[in-house]
Amino acid sequence: MDTVVTNGTIITATETYRADIGIENGKITALARGLEGAETIDAEGNYVFPGGIDIHTHFELPFMGTVSADDFETGSIAAACGGTTTFVDFAIQGEGESLHQALQTWMERASGKAAIDYGFHVAIGDMTDEVMNKEMAELVEQGITSFKLFMAYKGTFMVDDETLFKSLIKANELGALIMVHAENGDVLNYLINKHIAEGKLEPIWHARSHPPEAEAEAVGRAIILARLAGTPIYVVHLSAADALEKVKEARDQGQPVLAETCPQYLLFSTQHYELPGFEGAKYVMSPPLRDKSNQEPLWQGLASDDLQVVGTDHCPFNFVGQKDMGKDDFSKIPNGMPGVETRVPLMYHFGVNEGWFSVNRFVELVSTNPARLFGLAPQKGTISIGADADLVIFDSEKEVRLSVENLHMNVDHSPYDHITVKGYPVLTMQRGRIIVKDGEFVGDAGAGQFLRRSSPASI
Ligand code: URP
Ligand code: ZN
Ligand code: ZN
Repeated sequence: MDTVVTNGTIITATETYRADIGIENGKITALARGLEGAETIDAEGNYVFPGGIDIHTHFELPFMGTVSADDFETGSIAAACGGTTTFVDFAIQGEGESLHQALQTWMERASGKAAIDYGFHVAIGDMTDEVMNKEMAELVEQGITSFKLFMAYKGTFMVDDETLFKSLIKANELGALIMVHAENGDVLNYLINKHIAEGKLEPIWHARSHPPEAEAEAVGRAIILARLAGTPIYVVHLSAADALEKVKEARDQGQPVLAETCPQYLLFSTQHYELPGFEGAKYVMSPPLRDKSNQEPLWQGLASDDLQVVGTDHCPFNFVGQKDMGKDDFSKIPNGMPGVETRVPLMYHFGVNEGWFSVNRFVELVSTNPARLFGLAPQKGTISIGADADLVIFDSEKEVRLSVENLHMNVDHSPYDHITVKGYPVLTMQRGRIIVKDGEFVGDAGAGQFLRRSSPASI
C-alpha cells in the first residue's frame, strides 16, 4: 500500500465499523485490519468519513454589480479545510451566449486554481433551438449531467415556464437532472418595487419582498411541470415549511422530486434582518431566512428523507465594499453568504450532536446522496474498494469557534462567528494525498481535477 489509514471508525451512509483503509494510486484498495503501507496515518479515536461533496457553490460569480468574494482557489481551499473534497459550481449562460461558452468561461476560472475535485452544472438562461436540439446533449456527453433554471431574478437569470418545461422534456430524453431556484420572480419583482416606492429600504424588506408563499408556489409549479414532462426535478436551497410540504406531497404520490436545504435555513431566522447597524445585510440571500417556525420542519425533512441533500449555496460578499452597496436600498445588497467551509461541522454539530439524525445519515446528506444524485458515485461519496481515497478524519470531540480567524474563506465576516461546534475535521485527503492537516491547507492550488459526471443514479 502507498498509504494506510489505521484504527479509525469508518462511517458510510449504511455502515459503522473499525478497519484500516489501504490506498494505492489514489484509490481505496483494501478495507481490513492490520494493513501496512509506506505511510501510516493513525486515526485512533476518530471517525473516517468520505470527503464532503457540496453541489451548490458560486465561486467568482459576477452577480448584482459585483463578484462573489471567493475565487476557485480560496473557495476550494476553504472547502477542503472544512472537510469537503468535491464541489459542483454553476456555469451560467449569459445573454447571447451558448451553453458551451458559459462552460468554457467557468472552466477557465477553475483551471489551475481549484484545489479539490470539481464539476459544473450549467444554468440555462436562453432556450434557443441550438440549446434544445444540440447543446444540452453535447454537454451531457462532456460530463455536465445537470442543468439549472432560475424561476427568480427577473431581468437577469429568470426564465419563463416554457423554457423550464422544454428543459425538463429534454433532460428526460438525455437522462440529465433539472435543478430549480424556485421562487415566483414576478411576485418578488412586484413586491421589491412596491416596497422601494414606499421608502421601505432596510434589509428586513428583502425578506418581506420574498414571502414563503412565492417559494411554495414556484416549487409546486415546478413539480407539476416535471410531472407533465415525466422527469425528476431537484429543488435547490429550499428554505420553508410550505415549500417542503409541496415536495412531501409529490414524493408521497411517488413522484421523483428531490430537494436540498442549506445550514443557514436550519439555523438562522428572519430576526437576523433586524440586527442593528446594517448587520442584517450579511444574511440577505434568496430565498431569504424565514420565520423560526420553519426550522423544525426542515430538520425533520432531512431526518425523514423528504430532503436528501445539504448544500451551501456558498456565495460570499464582503460586508465592507460589497454588502454595503445596498446600505440605502435592500434591493442592491448582493444576495448570498459564505458557507462552503462550515457545512460539514455545522451539520455534524447541530444534526448529529443534537440528535436529529445518525452519523450515517449525516454522511448520506453531505456526501453520499450528492454523489449519487449528481453522477459522481461510486468514485465519490463513500468508502469502498475502488472509490477515490477522498477521506476526512474527524475528531468528534474537537471544539472550534466558527470565527473569521479560524476559517479560510476570503470574506471579512463569519455569519457563524458566535457558534462553537463540537466535532471538526483534523485531516482531509484527496485521492490519497493529504491536503489539510490540523486546520492548515497543505495541498496545491490547481490540483483539483474536473469530473465528467455520469447520469444521476436512478431516483
Ligand atoms: O442569494 C443567493 N442564493 N445567491 C446566490 C445565487 C442563487 O440564487 O443561488
Ligand atoms: Zn438560487
Ligand atoms: Zn445558488
